Amino acid sequence: MSKRYHESDIPEAAAALKRGELVAFPTETVYGLGADATNVTAVGKVYAAKGRPSDNPLIVTVADADMVGQYATITPLAAKLMQAFWPGPLTIILNILPGRLSMKVTGGLQTAAFRNPDNALTRKLIATAGVPIVGPSANTSGKPSPTTADHVLHDLDGKIAGVLDDGPTQVGVESAIIDLTVTPPAILRPGAIGPDELEPLIGHVDTAAHHVGQNEAPKAPGMKYKHYAPAAQVVVVDDPAQFSAAVAWAKQTGQVFGLLATDAILAQYPTIPSYSLGKNVQSAAHALFAGLRWFDLHPDVTLVLAQAFSKTELSAAYMNRLLKSAGDMHFQG
Ligand code: TXA
Ligand code: MG
Repeated sequence: MSKRYHESDIPEAAAALKRGELVAFPTETVYGLGADATNVTAVGKVYAAKGRPSDNPLIVTVADADMVGQYATITPLAAKLMQAFWPGPLTIILNILPGRLSMKVTGGLQTAAFRNPDNALTRKLIATAGVPIVGPSANTSGKPSPTTADHVLHDLDGKIAGVLDDGPTQVGVESAIIDLTVTPPAILRPGAIGPDELEPLIGHVDTAAHHVGQNEAPKAPGMKYKHYAPAAQVVVVDDPAQFSAAVAWAKQTGQVFGLLATDAILAQYPTIPSYSLGKNVQSAAHALFAGLRWFDLHPDVTLVLAQAFSKTELSAAYMNRLLKSAGDMHFQG
């Protein structure tokens, strides 16, 4: 049985980290799986608990920007981004100082990803432990990322010392990853912070990197693995106006199907099993992973029609995850 830690238990949770145990932690995006980044044995346990391929490098989660300087070169561009967006959902890839981080963290790369989450309890946990912690999402590899402590325990109970519970996360999709070791800087994974906010500060950023073709090598190693996959087939409905045609098509397949859509759409289909995305792209990003997990608890549903969003930066982040969960399958109206 893993523990559920609250704010007053932070010293206990930090002590568990220092002993080399795993402690899951809240962030503004999704829950992370923490281990002392300076303890090779502890980091190894993260891969085992998640069932994660060992060539996929981990994010180094820090209490503040100062902690980064012990492990990597903070360029002027990096300093600017940290000043503007930390703490916040922007992970920054930097060249590392030799010999400071284990290969188990970096996957053998000369770079590492650094993140300073906008969650006061987690920053306090890291500061109390006194070491940075690795922080992949706290889910079984391939499953939707966890946005509540319950999701974490569903996947990892018994495999970790505990989870620091700070309620549901706010953003719901993982941080944007920007690689500052290339010119121009490249967004490797879209998140709530996008080019509209980054470019005024640091100039042109490359957003093509996360659109990976079938046979290309992905830029972020994690992008090549199957992600967010629920048991049911997810089919993306690109235009809300296509929903009635998509529902008619789903009925014809003879499968039990469900809907992942906003309240305005769901109101028209009261008898179909459904999970609400709320009313806009913010609530949809917040609800996406919980919705995918909810359908896994309803194994009779083998097909899920899911609503697309367009136009905003957050919709790029939402669609990036939704298309992965759907294996890129769209409803062809
Ligand atoms: O919001 C988040 O970033 C969450 C929370 C828990 O902080 N964490 C998260 O970690 O999403 P993870 O491990 O699920 O995703 C990290 C991604 C992986 O795709 C990994 O391949 C990539 O970052 N990555 C890590 N280090 C890298 C590096 N040096 N170069 C390129 N990609 C890297
Ligand atoms: Mg992940």
